[in-house]
Amino acid sequence: MWGGRFQGGPAAVMREINASIAVDKRLWKQDIAASRAHAAMLSMQNILSPEDARAIDLALAEVGLEIERGELVEDPALEDIHMHVEHRLSQKIGAAAGRLHTARSRNDQVATDFKLFVRDCCDQAIAGIYALEDALLARAEQHADAVMPGFTHLQSGQPVTLGHHLMAYREMLVRDRSRFADARRRMNESPLGSAALAGTGFDLDREATAAALGFDRPTANSLDAVSDRDFAVDYLHAAALCSVHLSRLAEEIVLWASQPFGFVKLPDAWSTGSSIMPNKRNPDAAELVRGHSARVIGDLVALLVLLKGLPLAYAKDLQDDKPPLFDAHDLLGLSLAAMAGMIADLAFVPERMRAAAAAGHATATDLADWLVSEADVPFREAHHVAGSAVAAAEAKGKALDELTLDELRAVDPRIDQRALARLSVESSVAARRSAGGTAPERVRQAIAAARAQQAGREGR
Ligand code: ARG
Repeated sequence: MWGGRFQGGPAAVMREINASIAVDKRLWKQDIAASRAHAAMLSMQNILSPEDARAIDLALAEVGLEIERGELVEDPALEDIHMHVEHRLSQKIGAAAGRLHTARSRNDQVATDFKLFVRDCCDQAIAGIYALEDALLARAEQHADAVMPGFTHLQSGQPVTLGHHLMAYREMLVRDRSRFADARRRMNESPLGSAALAGTGFDLDREATAAALGFDRPTANSLDAVSDRDFAVDYLHAAALCSVHLSRLAEEIVLWASQPFGFVKLPDAWSTGSSIMPNKRNPDAAELVRGHSARVIGDLVALLVLLKGLPLAYAKDLQDDKPPLFDAHDLLGLSLAAMAGMIADLAFVPERMRAAAAAGHATATDLADWLVSEADVPFREAHHVAGSAVAAAEAKGKALDELTLDELRAVDPRIDQRALARLSVESSVAARRSAGGTAPERVRQAIAAARAQQAGREGR
């Protein structure tokens, strides 16, 4: 299709390095949609006869059906999906097929197809995130009161509720969702009609093709349009950060499912066994979600590095934009689905969580807070008293909330009966009623607000 000035054909390795069909065949639907929009516009502008436009449109629809049935015949000599579609078109309608490429280049064609694909990836990511949020909300509601240890430095800090912990991940996902929605909004300009790099002398209606393909408007600069892949970077950045969030949640599941924690029991559906150790129940899906995030981060970095040295406008390096994008899209979709499934099916073990929350004198802050609010002790001093109480408990081999009133008063006589009631993990979480805090009533409010937001199914 471009061989007019050539005498010899390409070397075998040239053909191999040049061909992208094995990868970019995934753009077939977008390629056909963009070509049909282009042909319809050419006809409206009297650049293409109504007869040719009709023949092209019908045949393109047929080619789409063929590819959908798995009938695409891959030929490295035809390089990419754009030439495969056009070649098949020419087999069907002959010379008229050659008119489709009027006022168009593969440069604006691939930018358009790829953008349509990435736009769809954003929509799919948002749908996948919503599904995971729904799973988190259901489990958070179920365990709004369940007490577990809250960690800093992975040391027991203060008791929290499992509902609060799960809702923390929901917050990350809300931000992820808004990043995908934002990326989608920003990318929604049509490159079609930018031609090879400089625009075209034909009297195109770029507004028409943009509207036909669901874009908000045509892009403003042809040089930028054919070489811009920021939209894919935006997607990959949102995907990488979302993957990092999923990886953190996966890491929690791996920890919680381990014997020393025992906070959750992995259901059979989300575990694998060991071929040598019959006792094993391994959290492979969670580990793979954690592992996949490394690849998605790599995909983002690969595209950034690909772009950084490119002068305007198109260069063939850009053909390598697709593997990282496709890889990240596939991995993210799987990770979101696996995480939603695991969260829905995990069997939490609230007794283990509560026991762990009570260990480690996790209500020492509550004793200090009580001294501040009921005995008018300055916080720094109260902190010191509570620390001494912890040391006294440790010396006696007891938990802080197992100390008797006399034992506590030996530490500081300002402590009275009322303080004892504050030292259980339940009263500790119930006390943390500040906005955004872990008190069960706050968690229930957060869940209700989230449900109202979910019902609207809109980015934040
Ligand atoms: N397969 C190419 C790509 O994905 C299409 C654009 C080819 N353009 C060109 N000037 N050779 O980037």
